[in-house]
Amino acid sequence: MKIAVLPGDGIGSEIIAQALAVLKRLELPLELETAAVGGAGYDASGDPLPEATLKLAREADAILFGAVGGWKYDELPRAKRPEQAILGLRKHLSLFANLRPAQVYAELAGASALRAEVVAGLDILIIRELTGDIYFGQPRGIHKLPDGQREGFDTMRYTESEIRRIAHVGYQAARKRGRKLCSVDKANVLETSQLWRDVVTEVGKEYSDVELSHMYVDNCAMQLVRTPKQFDVIVTGNMFGDILSDEASMLTGSIGMLPSASLDAKNKGLYEPIHGSAPDIAGKDIANPLATILSAAMMLRYSLNQVAAADRIESAVKKVLQDGYRTADIAEAGARKVGTKEMGEAVVACL
Ligand code: IPM
Ligand code: MG
Repeated sequence: MKIAVLPGDGIGSEIIAQALAVLKRLELPLELETAAVGGAGYDASGDPLPEATLKLAREADAILFGAVGGWKYDELPRAKRPEQAILGLRKHLSLFANLRPAQVYAELAGASALRAEVVAGLDILIIRELTGDIYFGQPRGIHKLPDGQREGFDTMRYTESEIRRIAHVGYQAARKRGRKLCSVDKANVLETSQLWRDVVTEVGKEYSDVELSHMYVDNCAMQLVRTPKQFDVIVTGNMFGDILSDEASMLTGSIGMLPSASLDAKNKGLYEPIHGSAPDIAGKDIANPLATILSAAMMLRYSLNQVAAADRIESAVKKVLQDGYRTADIAEAGARKVGTKEMGEAVVACL
């Protein structure tokens, strides 16, 4: 099994190192190959997604991705910015289904920004469409109007087939869980969302065992902090999913805990923590590596069919939390505070 390892920028290499230590401990027949991506790709070859990196990603059975971005790249033209690497990988590899689970570990209920009883036992799965919507819709740009001022514009678009395939992912995931699917849109205002709602409803005829509901995105943003446990699986478009998944991460205590999978139609996938490159804490050995370690577990589960190994990693993460290990982002007073490396070592020790 060949894994493309793309650490990227900022804390990327620190958190990936811990995920690799965990994978190594499992002694699976994995062939790991590392390549530069994001700002690191730009520094190495003038391109955030170098040709060789894309080739490696195409050839691999799965991709383990750290994070991209950094202040020094913020002024570059958009095509050269680190974010283009992750957007390019998603698009080139047709990774249209983004799975972002948000689970509250019992030990961390107190670390949530919400009261513990609101989030205790929370287990939701956000499924975000990842290759369409206003992220990729054409035309887009900044042009000059006849009156001399500039106007910026982007285009939100979804085809029926794009909606249908992500709806199937949503229903099938719901079927394996609590059988509840909430489709999130803005159909009271947007045509794209009206089509989204119609198609998700149509596809639902094939899944009479799954209870479908629809919710406007603004209401969903509110419900997520009001009564988050009402949700099982949420399916939504690229833009709304980007925003809601960051919001949902805070229910769990820290964005540093949340893994994600981005899958194509054959379950080949890219796995990454949902947090970013956090340049402000890079190189300080304080970032939480658990989201990346849990992303490696998702990789074993979804793309490599190593379910037992994935279970082992997830149990080990639970155990280190039970044992009181906490990185700074999840540390309450009196906790056993550890750095990135020590947290990774604790997981390895549990394995
Ligand atoms: C995410 C990130 C990306 C996105 C950025 C880095 C392009 O926020 O994966 O959620 O907007 O999709
Ligand atoms: Mg985001």
